[in-house]
Amino acid sequence: MDQRFLDDLFARVDIVSLVSKYVHLTKKGGNHFGLCPFHNEKTPSFSVNGEKQIFHCFGCGVGGGAVQFLMKMENLEFRDAVEQLAQSVGMEVPKEGNPREERRRDRLYELMREAARHFHANLARPEAAAAVEYIRRRALAPQTVTRFGLGYSMDSWDDLSRAMKAKGYSEEELLFAGLTVRGKNNSAYDRFRGRLMFPIIDVRGRVIAFGGRVLDDSLPKYLNSPDTPIFNKTQNLFGLNYAKKSKLGKLILAEGYMDVISLHQAGFDCAVASLGTSLTSDQARIISRYTDKCIISYDADEAGQKAAQRAIQIFGGAGVSVQVLRIPGAKDPDEFIKKNGPEAFNALLSQSEGQTEYRLRIIRQKYDLSHDDQKVAFLREASGMLAGIPNAVERDVFAGRAAEAAGVGKEALLIEVEKRRRADRKKEEAARHREDISPVNRAQPKERELRYRDTASAMAEETLLAVLLQRPEHCGQAKALLQPEDFSSEPLAEIYRLVLAGKGDTVHLSTELSPEKFSLCTKLMMRELPKDEKRAVADCAARIRAEKLKGGAPAGEEDPLLAFRKMKAKK
Ligand code: UTP
Ligand code: MN
Repeated sequence: MDQRFLDDLFARVDIVSLVSKYVHLTKKGGNHFGLCPFHNEKTPSFSVNGEKQIFHCFGCGVGGGAVQFLMKMENLEFRDAVEQLAQSVGMEVPKEGNPREERRRDRLYELMREAARHFHANLARPEAAAAVEYIRRRALAPQTVTRFGLGYSMDSWDDLSRAMKAKGYSEEELLFAGLTVRGKNNSAYDRFRGRLMFPIIDVRGRVIAFGGRVLDDSLPKYLNSPDTPIFNKTQNLFGLNYAKKSKLGKLILAEGYMDVISLHQAGFDCAVASLGTSLTSDQARIISRYTDKCIISYDADEAGQKAAQRAIQIFGGAGVSVQVLRIPGAKDPDEFIKKNGPEAFNALLSQSEGQTEYRLRIIRQKYDLSHDDQKVAFLREASGMLAGIPNAVERDVFAGRAAEAAGVGKEALLIEVEKRRRADRKKEEAARHREDISPVNRAQPKERELRYRDTASAMAEETLLAVLLQRPEHCGQAKALLQPEDFSSEPLAEIYRLVLAGKGDTVHLSTELSPEKFSLCTKLMMRELPKDEKRAVADCAARIRAEKLKGGAPAGEEDPLLAFRKMKAKK
């Protein structure tokens, strides 16, 4: 994107007020601090610097500028985030720089829509009789089939490819879209064959992928599109294109495509499902954009209940209140509605449990409370769970419930819970302190792929970059002393190269580096500088050269894990 435009935009946007819309910030010195919206924490390690227009979380290592914040927070692509920011300050984004790329994506979207049309039209063909019969057996109404654009992939190696090629799409495009698979002899064949097809549609109404179900009991039951340039399974939800318009004021999160369709058919048009994987944090964040109330309605079996517990954790910091639905006498919502009708499901919804209630019940089920030793074990586990509840009133209420279940007084349990809270807080502080005082831990970036091989040298490289990023006037001095090749860490060398080329500003860094490496920069830009900067540059350069002379492979050659083990062994 046009650098001049980005410069102008970044000059007008204020990251502090942007972040404040999502995070409660408190000012301390030159920085603002708050609880990181990207990971769970109880003490703030997320900081925003208004002067440099950057944020960095010292807990999870994520950092960036206003654009990166918005991208992560609202789950947007770079261009969309820039557009949103531009709009907020009354600027207009210049037209896309790469029309070829745009055109290619547009054609992918068109191809997916054509494929969905083709699958849907297949239902009218005589060879699709089994699929039509299957749809009838699953009690899907014709309107439902139309609304969700269900279809059938013929039991053929090339039915879809032939039809799409006739419409002008190339073999390459079909592969790219994940509609075909390349076989051993290098020829491509249709990925989906003899399956009931579920188009996956994004919130803008575009077909971006497919799920395909077998008509019998063969395996795998479902086949899904792979990730493609227009589809990422961790960042989309099945049914959200309709659920986002629902008037019900909540979202129901189900496990399967079939559950979602069945729920919509029964009038619960707020149902969504993740796509062939368990819920991801990106999906939780997307959900939090549309509602502050999510009801998890997973399968009743053990796997479903485990998944529900995980989902609760993932929803943790997202600001969504989560409730878990219990489905008595049926394996999933689809079966329950078939058996008992929509009214009964509505009744279930109104009595769905809050998450604390749900977690308490799960713990309670583990123990036989008629035995004293089990009672004690139950209270111990319950007090651990209760200690994690931030709200005191809620702690009090559920301590009462747990105490009642075990037939003991609430006061004793509450004392135990408060003890646990103090212990937890101490543990968290101790962990933080350990991290602070251990140079090795502190020097290692959070992101695995950026791990340093030679931490002694890397620390000097970091300090040097911290100086140069904040005080570019020292670049000349550094350049005379040190080449990027002298660095032990490839990511840091890459940053050094940019800095020397006069591209050490946030616009260049953010557009030329990966998000992980840019996060590293924001950490360095927030670091306090040594008093004598010139001397620091000289000292760091000397240190880096000395480490290099001591030997060790040049950047990127040795396995970092191996190096870490060696270093530990030396100690
Ligand atoms: P289910 O097996 O519960 O499927 O898997 P379902 O949607 O309820 O379908 P029916 O009612 O049995 O026909 C839940 C979800 O897990 C993913 C799919 O997204 C499915 O909807 N899944 C399951 C796969 O991706 N592959 C599989 O082989 C099975
Ligand atoms: Mn199911």
